[in-house]
Amino acid sequence: MCGIVGYVGPRPSQDILLAGLARLEYRGYDSAGIAVIDRDGDLGMRKRAGKLSMLRDDLERHPLADGTTGIGHTRWATHGGPTDVNAHPHLADDGKLAVIHNGIIENFADLKVELISEGYEFQSETDTEVAAVLLGREYAASHDLVAAFRATVVRLEGAFTLLAMHQEQPGLVVGARRNSPLVIGLGEGENFLGSDVAAFVEHTRDALAIGQDQIVAITPSGVEVSDFTGAAVEVEPFQVTWDASAAEKGGWSSFMAKEVAEEPEAVANTLRGRIRDGVVVIPELDGLDELFAEITRVVVIAAGTAAYAGLVGKYAIEQWTRVPVEVELAHEFRYRDPVLTPSTLVISISQSGETMDTLMAVKYARERGARTLSICNTQGATIPRESDAIVYTHAGPEVAVASTKAFVAQITALYLLGLHVARVRGALSATEVAQHVLELEAIPRKIAKVLDAESARISQLAHWMADTRSVLFLGRHVGYPIALEGALKLKEITYIHAEGFAAGELKHGPIALIEPGQPVFVLVPSPRESSLLHDKVVSNIQEIRARGARVIVVAEEGDAAVLPFADEVLRIPLAGPLFEPLLAVVPLHLFAMGLAEAKGLDVDQPRNLAKSVTVE
Ligand code: F6R
Repeated sequence: MCGIVGYVGPRPSQDILLAGLARLEYRGYDSAGIAVIDRDGDLGMRKRAGKLSMLRDDLERHPLADGTTGIGHTRWATHGGPTDVNAHPHLADDGKLAVIHNGIIENFADLKVELISEGYEFQSETDTEVAAVLLGREYAASHDLVAAFRATVVRLEGAFTLLAMHQEQPGLVVGARRNSPLVIGLGEGENFLGSDVAAFVEHTRDALAIGQDQIVAITPSGVEVSDFTGAAVEVEPFQVTWDASAAEKGGWSSFMAKEVAEEPEAVANTLRGRIRDGVVVIPELDGLDELFAEITRVVVIAAGTAAYAGLVGKYAIEQWTRVPVEVELAHEFRYRDPVLTPSTLVISISQSGETMDTLMAVKYARERGARTLSICNTQGATIPRESDAIVYTHAGPEVAVASTKAFVAQITALYLLGLHVARVRGALSATEVAQHVLELEAIPRKIAKVLDAESARISQLAHWMADTRSVLFLGRHVGYPIALEGALKLKEITYIHAEGFAAGELKHGPIALIEPGQPVFVLVPSPRESSLLHDKVVSNIQEIRARGARVIVVAEEGDAAVLPFADEVLRIPLAGPLFEPLLAVVPLHLFAMGLAEAKGLDVDQPRNLAKSVTVE
């Protein structure tokens, strides 16, 4: 949450900062601001509540003198409402010093009391301004920005990425991180800082990942990284695997529209290079077979959509490996003293790799002796760096706040992992693994078929339903997490009340919600593979129809049994039962997007949310 960008080099920095912020706006859009040290050596700053476009308009009307050192921020409000005053940057040292921040400084109140008692004054309600004023005080003592910054960050508790610059030291931006993200972009005679590589990928794909509790100082000609005591540290270089065009809308009406359309590719890219002659080969997991042979339990931790991917994965991994799998919301896991042993494998799932709840849960699991494996979509992110092993999803950058292509990529990665572990443990024969692998390889083509066949009809359905006030989703088995995902997506981007239920749970309470005209999406399992499950769901449909529900069914091609009971039937191609979720979720993603469009809402940037949730 909150996007951060910094630049030093020969070029005018404003356009670079604004372009970087545009790519980071998914991290928060309550306000935006930049600060630049101009060519006369003066620090100029502009910040505005609202989306980045408000700041751009302001800068167009009242330009700021440009310079070649600058920092920029896009905010997701925590301390203090989304106002101009609370927007970042925050200034100190009589306006000569600017600071931006992502995270929460937990001891800001104590520090503020200390600084007020010394006569310092504050303009905003933010925790960030406390760091700025503290840095100003330290700078006044040493006139050395790096030393002052070090003296400041050691006083801070909580989570933070901080960037700062001082007009007396142009050509220098300093940054620090603890439990919030920060990566370095290496250019020719110029260097960048960003919350993630999207901030600078149009300028360079050479990057460095900064570790916990480290400080970086960038100048046009160099990058120096040290720990909070001042000792130099080695940092890990990496190459960004996608280019700037991957993070552009490319003619689509929204990033979400583009990203749903990329779901086939997200699965295909996550499979690429990991299947050889019907065998799953995950090079990142070399050397871990002994661990996989010995684990007695798997705990999946994640939040939101990523947790639903985990729930889908549970059905497959348990069935294939016969190892018990639990799925737990990361924020619940950490606070309940869970049982963890060295034979527990804790799998975290995170698109951003920065979700604070998940990060803290991973650290907690490690501290208690469990082995940790991260499924992540973002290179250089913190969660994979804190884990014993990583399996990257290759969904490409996901910009829309609502997670879509990452979800199918996460399920794909879990399935690859499950098949690999099943082979290592001898729980599945080579032939069985090869059959499942074939199913997985067919998924991209089948998702593309759903997109081709159903997009227009779903958009029409969504427009008809634009005034709907509540939608329910029902599923059984792997359809249950898909019902949860369908409901989450709808709540998130259309602000309509939506609930997902296990279809069998209906009669235990939720059926009371059904009244004439209530729209209910029902995910119907294949009749070929499990007629028992299929028939149970068809019975559930009849129960809600009898009470006047308007039933929209997602069912396999050729399943005629649903026809008499459905108001609408959305079709998915034939697939094995465990593979159906990868197809059934597609109409639900399309529906949520269509309804948000029909209501005239901002599909990519729903209210109150941010893509990367870096606060607990
Ligand atoms: C829903 C959504 C969120 C995220 C959740 C975890 O569309 O995007 O529920 O799935 O905040 O985020 P990551 O995967 O980045 O850890």
